[in-house]
Amino acid sequence: MNKVENSFLNKNQFGEDFLWGVSTAAFQIEGAHDADGKGSSIWDVFTSQKGKIKNDHHAVTACDFYNSYQTDIDLIRELNIPNFRFSISWPRIMPTGVHPVNQAGIDYYNKIIDSLLESGIEPWITLYHWDLPHALELKGGWTNRESVTWFSDYVAVCAHYFGDRVKNWMVINEPSVFTGAGYFLGIHAPGKKGISNYLKAMHHVTLATAKGAKVLRNAIPDANIGTTFSCTHIEPATQNAKDIEAAKRVDTLLNRTFIEPILGLGYPQKDLPVLKKLNNYILEDDLNNLDFHFDFIGLQCYTREVVKSSLLIPYIGAELVSADKRNVISTEMGWEVYPPALYHVLKKFNEYKGIKKIIITENGAAFADTVTNGKVFDIKRTHYIQDHLEQILKAKEEGLNVEGYFVWSLTDNFEWAEGYNARFGLIHVDFNTQKRTIKNSGLWFKDFLS
Ligand code: NOJ
Repeated sequence: MNKVENSFLNKNQFGEDFLWGVSTAAFQIEGAHDADGKGSSIWDVFTSQKGKIKNDHHAVTACDFYNSYQTDIDLIRELNIPNFRFSISWPRIMPTGVHPVNQAGIDYYNKIIDSLLESGIEPWITLYHWDLPHALELKGGWTNRESVTWFSDYVAVCAHYFGDRVKNWMVINEPSVFTGAGYFLGIHAPGKKGISNYLKAMHHVTLATAKGAKVLRNAIPDANIGTTFSCTHIEPATQNAKDIEAAKRVDTLLNRTFIEPILGLGYPQKDLPVLKKLNNYILEDDLNNLDFHFDFIGLQCYTREVVKSSLLIPYIGAELVSADKRNVISTEMGWEVYPPALYHVLKKFNEYKGIKKIIITENGAAFADTVTNGKVFDIKRTHYIQDHLEQILKAKEEGLNVEGYFVWSLTDNFEWAEGYNARFGLIHVDFNTQKRTIKNSGLWFKDFLS
């Protein structure tokens, strides 16, 4: 008997109020890149350049969610999933990033929200999931301090048009990933590199997170406001002092740099000295404007990383030992399958006194799925989800704070620099025909949630 049939997991073990959902992001699913007055985003521009994305994939059509949202909402309902997380494309509703508003974009999101509510599905909006309007990038994007004002004006527009029906909001998605990959390494849009771009973007995004949350709170007093962080369990490669110190620096960079200022703890400059350079960009009073008392913090955890000291790597003096080199089981992303990472991350974030509530707003896995006779036998994904849920149960049994779990993702979609090669969906998408096939993991989740 295989593990799926054998699973003793039961939804009731998590408690009646535990939130179950599925997560997506506009650029990864919508397509319709220039429909009905939409402006270009930095990702539209980045993906149009040769050599940036694996196989030069782009997201001009993606999953065509723009046109087929009703089909996908029907599938969410069919899978018994009560909460749907999606993001608003800023340039779809504000083509140049600032006023005026594009009414067709507003109408589109209104249709989605209304359709979800009619289907009994709770909408969860992410305000920024990486698709900055290109017009703003021409003015420096997140490296320009004005970005804090651009973003809060955009948040006010979203609150005004959608706040009457949407109560659950996430301000920014994974700031460490999009600033690190987009403004330091240059492997994500907008493709900028270097320490000063990175630190400027980091500080402005952090200011924008707090400011955006305050705008929401004023406009929608009863909103449930959160923001999401990528987090990875970090371990040193050996018990050698140098590796332990290196692991501490990587942990600070990946897991602490963005959340600590939001919690009023300031940037962790002591444990990561390069962050002292931030002082060049921090203006008087900024430190009083970095924090916000969020109703929940979204954690997005996929794996662990093993770290060793390396003098060759600037600023951080550390490198990751890949899953490949460690000979461990990994996903199509090359990420080790290590479910206890989720438990460790929960334990770590539970130590922050300022966090009211934790929701796992993303967790999932990419495997090379194929459709055989109308079915997708993705047993590895089902195991991945089950094993991570067991870690959540363990955390809950120990009294740790964790009140929800959202799978990444509803359908296979455009996985940034990996293009369509990494399939994360509970539902398979044939990108030639747009045909959807519920994978076995989706059927398992449906059963679990029924
Ligand atoms: C994090 C991001 O929020 C999401 O956009 C991405 O597709 C998944 N993780 C998987 O990499």
